Amino acid sequence: MARRTFIAGNWKLNLGPASSARLAEELVRTLADRGEVDVALYPTTISIPAVQAVLGGSGIELGVQEVEAFASGAYTGANSPVLCREAGCTRALIGHSERRQRYGETDAGVAAKTVACLDAGLLPMICVGETLQERDAGVAADIVGHQVRAALSALPADRVGALTIAYEPVWAIGTGRTASPAEAQEMHQHVRAVLRSLYGDVIADGLRVLYGGSVTPETAPALLGQPDIDGALVGGASLKAASFAAIVRASH
Ligand code: 13P
Repeated sequence: MARRTFIAGNWKLNLGPASSARLAEELVRTLADRGEVDVALYPTTISIPAVQAVLGGSGIELGVQEVEAFASGAYTGANSPVLCREAGCTRALIGHSERRQRYGETDAGVAAKTVACLDAGLLPMICVGETLQERDAGVAADIVGHQVRAALSALPADRVGALTIAYEPVWAIGTGRTASPAEAQEMHQHVRAVLRSLYGDVIADGLRVLYGGSVTPETAPALLGQPDIDGALVGGASLKAASFAAIVRASH
């Protein structure tokens, strides 16, 4: 089954409303002829309305980097899937390793947020990945398999089709050290095998598994050429229109 390539830009804690709108404008222009590839941008939450105003009918999707698992209430400082949907987001990142490591995100939290996003009409991208210690200890596949199973634990098969998984080895994020195409392919194949064991062939062959971790215009072609790598979740290189657009173009 052909899976359409998906290139996503995670801007992390970079760019306020004005500079986010400028970058989004440049991308709308540069990527007008991008062809058969899905593109989504995940700006800072404070910049979501500014980016939303620019994306208009461009077909480039808007996502939020982090949400809570509830819609509203006495949760000072929190972000809700329902309100992000109202603000024009159609997607959300869940369980990014920076959230797991720095903010105590748990597997149970990831599972709850996944359901809350689906309930609100946001398409979740569940991020998984092992640390360097885990890779060196030979347990990377176990860790990633566990993260995938835990994230999906509350989901029946008829809700899973809306998901994307992003494999982001922690040791490759922001380090300039990309997983080799073979290393990444091996883990993507493993993630797909886990999906197959949980939900069968149709779902496993249909879901997109993106790679993230120091993806650049130079490393993207070989990574995206792997049979089980269906796109990229790009951090640093998504902050410049030229490098992000080059990665989008590397996908076909
Ligand atoms: P870098 O591309 O900067 O390594 O970040 C990857 C990432 O964490 C995307 O979510």
